Amino acid sequence: MGKGRKKKAFNFQKKDRFMNFQMIKWEKSKGIEFLKKIGIKKNFALLDFGARIGHYSIPAAFIVGKKGKVYALDKNESALDELKEKSEKLSLENIKIVKTDGRLQTDFPDSYFDTVLLYDILHFLNKSQRKILFTEILRMLKKNGILSVYPKHINSDYPMREFENLTIKDIIREIEKFGLIFSKKICDTISHDDFLNYGCVINFKKRNENE
Ligand SMILES: C[S@@+](CC[C@H](N)C(=O)[O-])C[C@H]1O[C@@H](n2cnc3c(N)ncnc32)[C@H](O)[C@@H]1O
Repeated sequence: MGKGRKKKAFNFQKKDRFMNFQMIKWEKSKGIEFLKKIGIKKNFALLDFGARIGHYSIPAAFIVGKKGKVYALDKNESALDELKEKSEKLSLENIKIVKTDGRLQTDFPDSYFDTVLLYDILHFLNKSQRKILFTEILRMLKKNGILSVYPKHINSDYPMREFENLTIKDIIREIEKFGLIFSKKICDTISHDDFLNYGCVINFKKRNENE
């Protein structure tokens, strides 16, 4: 470096503040629009499985309203504490925090949820764990209920962990074996970790017994 030219240190704090602002704005505006496209409606009971700090639980709570409920489930206590703080600031009393030990079966009753979100979580689970989770989701979903999956980290999108060799078609094929029918793919600018990126989620409907 030439004399007198000081390298400008990257200001992480400033970047964090910007990301924070960008995500908060997304949760209250574009995130709501996106989740409406997924099919989430007023009064719904929704389970956000692996919710972390609630980038999806928050917009979902705005949509389902006071008579609806969003259960934000995670095994990460500090992430859930952050979500609790955020929801209190926004007076979102319809977000219920569910801290687990990572087990994939739950205490929710049969046919309880209108929608279950599995966003950016499945790559953590191996095939036999996913089997337990999909079976559980089928049990918890109402007839015609929606399972929405964000299959991040498949082979074409920052491949990682259990998903590194899988395609979106592989995921659809796997989930359809569990009595869930692929219904649509929705792509947009959506949240990943604490950033926005272009991504696609895939929706499934619970098969009717007479289908
Ligand atoms: C990458 S984050 C995705 C967060 C959120 N769904 C989103 O898209 O912004 C994955 C989350 O899943 C949680 N998780 C992973 N395995 C889990 C399990 N078996 N039970 C509950 N939570 C789990 C992690 O603690 C983490 O908060």
